[in-house]
Amino acid sequence: MIEESVFFTKPSKAMRVRRLPTPESTADLIRKQIQDRPRLGIILGSGFGSVAKAISIEHIFSYRDLPGFPHAGAPGHAGQLILGHWHGASIVVLNGRSHYYEGFGPSEVTFPTRVLAALGITLLLITNAAGGINPDFKVGDFMVLRDHINFMGMNPLRGPTAPKKSRFVDMTFPYDTTLASHLADAAKEMNLAVHRGVYLAVSGPSFETPAEIRAFGALGADAVGMSTVPEVIVGRHCGLRIAGLSCITNAAAGLGGASQVVSAEEVLAVAQDNGLIATHLIGNFVKRVVHSALSL
Ligand code: HPA
Repeated sequence: MIEESVFFTKPSKAMRVRRLPTPESTADLIRKQIQDRPRLGIILGSGFGSVAKAISIEHIFSYRDLPGFPHAGAPGHAGQLILGHWHGASIVVLNGRSHYYEGFGPSEVTFPTRVLAALGITLLLITNAAGGINPDFKVGDFMVLRDHINFMGMNPLRGPTAPKKSRFVDMTFPYDTTLASHLADAAKEMNLAVHRGVYLAVSGPSFETPAEIRAFGALGADAVGMSTVPEVIVGRHCGLRIAGLSCITNAAAGLGGASQVVSAEEVLAVAQDNGLIATHLIGNFVKRVVHSALSL
């Protein structure tokens, strides 16, 4: 487990000897392999892996070869950092993530996000599979994140923080409204209806009970999942502008009819079935970002 203090305190002699990875040292290693400096990062969640096929690849790292990267072990998570180009943008893609439910600590699951920030990205799109709570949502719909509720019982900024960096990060605007509009416009261009909504993150790995889902709905959640929020908090800590996109893969527990249960297999299958649409949607988003005034 990588302690936050390793990133932010002056390394002791013992640490220097052990050469524990920092986001900066891992970013340095990556930088040696590339010409361009990516400004846009994309995190591909469960079932979004086919998006990676659309990128013209400059270099691929396995997470195993990147010091400090936790191993992405959940099904549908390739565990690759991809550097390349898409619609003229130099991008860096995390194809797969590790989750808190796999047993990694908060600073471990967010280490890759810190590496992207250390690489110099300014914009980050984070994707996930989620269960629909809002009764208007259908399986296969997409939701652009407007806000979130952290129900994971942890915060990745707990503990020592970088000198000159406040741990008290403002979260009034977790998701960038310009980027969210680009996502919505990208969907409109494809005649794809997307919702805007609130994502509630739980730690998992068990799915929710129907009573929990009723409670989350009453709290204002439109969809529920087991990721994204730690990366958003750390991304904001690093000053990144963030967009979030969920694929609604299932009706949340108790909302899918009398005998329906929630299964990880169904979640992955539905996200993968919608991979082409997701690729097209994210590609259109990248195009819009490239042609906008956003500095890339
Ligand atoms: N609950 C939690 N996480 C999820 C779900 C869900 O219903 N669907 C996809 N990820």
